[in-house]
Amino acid sequence: MFEKEIAQAIKIDGVTAAEIQEMFEIPKDVSLGDLALPCFKFAKALRKSPTMIAEEIKNGFSGVDCVTEVNAVGGYLNFKINEKAILSQLVELSKNEEPALSDEGKGKTICIDYSSVNIAKPFHIGHLSTTVIGGALYRIFKHLGYDVVGINHLGDWGTQFGKMIVAYKKWGNKDEVLKGGVLELNRLYVKYHQEAEKDAKLDDEARAWFKKIEDKDKEATELFLWFKEITLKEVSKIYDRLKIKFDSYNGESFYNDKMQPCLDVLKEKGLLVESEGAKVVNLDAYDMPPCLLVKGDGATLYATRDIAAAYYRAKTYDFYKCLYVVAYQQNLHFKQLFKVLELMGFEKAKDMEHIAFGMVSLEDGAMKTRLGRVVWLSDVLDKAVEKARTIIEEKKTEGVDVEKTAESVGVGAVVFSALWNNRIKDITFSFDKVLNFDGETAPYVQYTHARCCSVLKKGGDVDYSLIDLNGIANDEGIAVAKSVIGFADAVKKAAETREPCVVTRHIVDLAEKFNKFYICHKIVTAKDGEKEARLTLTKAVKNVIATGLGLLGIDAPDAM
Ligand code: ARG
Repeated sequence: MFEKEIAQAIKIDGVTAAEIQEMFEIPKDVSLGDLALPCFKFAKALRKSPTMIAEEIKNGFSGVDCVTEVNAVGGYLNFKINEKAILSQLVELSKNEEPALSDEGKGKTICIDYSSVNIAKPFHIGHLSTTVIGGALYRIFKHLGYDVVGINHLGDWGTQFGKMIVAYKKWGNKDEVLKGGVLELNRLYVKYHQEAEKDAKLDDEARAWFKKIEDKDKEATELFLWFKEITLKEVSKIYDRLKIKFDSYNGESFYNDKMQPCLDVLKEKGLLVESEGAKVVNLDAYDMPPCLLVKGDGATLYATRDIAAAYYRAKTYDFYKCLYVVAYQQNLHFKQLFKVLELMGFEKAKDMEHIAFGMVSLEDGAMKTRLGRVVWLSDVLDKAVEKARTIIEEKKTEGVDVEKTAESVGVGAVVFSALWNNRIKDITFSFDKVLNFDGETAPYVQYTHARCCSVLKKGGDVDYSLIDLNGIANDEGIAVAKSVIGFADAVKKAAETREPCVVTRHIVDLAEKFNKFYICHKIVTAKDGEKEARLTLTKAVKNVIATGLGLLGIDAPDAM
């Protein structure tokens, strides 16, 4: 906001105002100022110490209206912004229903591979992070003007489908599968493994059925596609609740006929070597185990399909970046994948990133599992919604649609919990913690949003010409204003670091600041002029919170 104006008043040899504008940071210690320009970045080019550079820039600074003070401290140049300028900016921003919208990503395509579920396997709590982190990044990049392609790289290939068919034919039937859905498919799969331990012949049968799928045998293909349909129908219900969308469901099987050209390139470059009958790329030189691409029996692997997918995505989308939102357990897979692609001369290898995240586990005793092992995400969502319903019913707020609000609050609380920390952190999920209306939670932010809506409803339309900024020229008001202004930076930073939690934390911080303001200052009953200023502040907060929650995929109910 103020960066542009300040940058134009700064002179540094060989650096444009636009470049300077991009370099500002919020000082760690806010008492130092509102914006800081780190000068160590110029040190190399100017062959001077950052401290000297900061002094020189300060001396050459021509001054602008919005800046009241400039200080050079430890290689940083700190700027204090005039309160009136901050408050006027807040008023301007209050008119924007979708703050932080930008076109900085115009013309650039970002592929995001996320959720990427496995067919015939339950959608469990372990899929929560990839789904909601991927979904949040999807919306954040869209907000910044990027073309985004959401890809669900389905796990829909492999010998397990041969096993599924054997299990279905031996112990399953159509009605049970139609009734039980993925749960029944999973029961059959578990049963297969129990039986296969006793009877090794089952594996031969499974292999034979998988071969039939590969050979496009009619019965095998029909069953395979049916399992896929059942799984997708079930996960799509969860995607709807989580507000998740995909532009492509091209999964592993899609690449069946696209791997050979890649294997040819590998062979041509002398990268593919035989090892105990299998074909691998040796990665000794990079301190990694070999990347297995073709098994002894000619079967391709997960990595082979990812190589083909990378080529396909580059050709189809001409991506600027391709992100893979996948658990850190697959660190090695992606390191190997990117290295093999690089060795193949695939130029875009440098634009592919593994967006890793930690594990989600449930607090002990939080839930009984239906299968004794995995916790289904739909059960977690249902339980959160049920608990939210009890809380909302107790509050008895007028005009609240209990069912709808409980769904928004319950699901929102679960989503929020996966977007609160840096991705890589392991999290232990607790229903009580995520549903606490007074903590760093979705319900707390949603409640603040509803509070804003209620204030605005009581306050009526604002006549901007009546605004008296003195109504918000206090510590609480300035703090809110700075947070509202800083939202655009938070969204940008979330995109840059691929960390949706930057947005999550920003809106919690704003909610806290607004609530402080709300406690200290009358809004609707304030005197004329001040009332308009305070309603305007409330509107700006509401817009930022609603937009922030929206980016995270969380509803912002008007009343709670
Ligand atoms: N289906 C895989 C799993 O559940 C994740 C796939 C991630 N995407 C990819 N292109 N490898 O582990």
